Amino acid sequence: MEYLITATDYKLLETTKLAAKEAGAILKEGYYSEERINFERKGASDFVTAYDRAAEKCIIKRISSSFPEIAFIGEESGNTPGNMSDYTVIIDPLDGTNNFLHGVPHFSVSIAVTKHSNLLLGLVYQPLLDELLWAIRGDGAYMNERPIRIHSARPLSEMIVSTCLPYHAKGDCSTALNQLTTLMPMVAGIRSPGSAALEIAYTSIERFDAFWSQGARLDFWDIAAGIIIAREAGCIVTDLNGDPSPPQWKSLLVAHPERHGELLNHLNFIH
Ligand code: IPD
Ligand code: CA
Ligand code: CA
Repeated sequence: MEYLITATDYKLLETTKLAAKEAGAILKEGYYSEERINFERKGASDFVTAYDRAAEKCIIKRISSSFPEIAFIGEESGNTPGNMSDYTVIIDPLDGTNNFLHGVPHFSVSIAVTKHSNLLLGLVYQPLLDELLWAIRGDGAYMNERPIRIHSARPLSEMIVSTCLPYHAKGDCSTALNQLTTLMPMVAGIRSPGSAALEIAYTSIERFDAFWSQGARLDFWDIAAGIIIAREAGCIVTDLNGDPSPPQWKSLLVAHPERHGELLNHLNFIH
């Protein structure tokens, strides 16, 4: 069913864009600071820096200043319930913390908004490149202010596919290894650069032809914004059971409509 975007949706979109850019500026400053970045451990291989926290605070402050009643789910601050019951803002203030604190220039700010539990809009911002990928339901996807749409599908043998791999104590290595063993001989390359939000959003501009993840345990804030951007650009997004709206995203496949079925079979070892 066609969704009619409201004036509130648009206002929220513009405010969220501003919030992503302000948070991105904080991360950029941190990235270029002379000092080695300090971090704390939240869990096994789960790191947080003062920049993750400052970026999330900045996003919440910016959005609450226009929408004081809105609810938030933030990776760093948890759930903040609100009275604007239909909307929830989902924040990953720094996706790719491990890259960030190693000086690898691949990380992003990721913000999504759900309305009545459905994805309404999503933004993934790469502050070092000043690239904002975004989408609002039913209105297509954009890079900065330019509309984006995927082209014809590449054959499997020419595709670069990205993924998130499990590491240390996080995830199921054997599933990931079996999937890699299956796909590697079929495609032109597999990449695991380390910011799930960015990798998913990059399928909308075909830097990657597809993205999947099953072994790595991704949270909703890692994937929510990327999912709506990729969908609005023309990709098919499901879990690895082929479900486009599972109650919980335990796996993910984002691909061109002409390649999605083929990849789904390979990743499920159906030949
Ligand atoms: C991580 C990144 C990474 C993925 C991890 C996530 P964070 O997010 O998205 O690509 O493999 O599973 O936790 O911790 O940098 O926000
Ligand atoms: Ca993340
Ligand atoms: Ca994060």
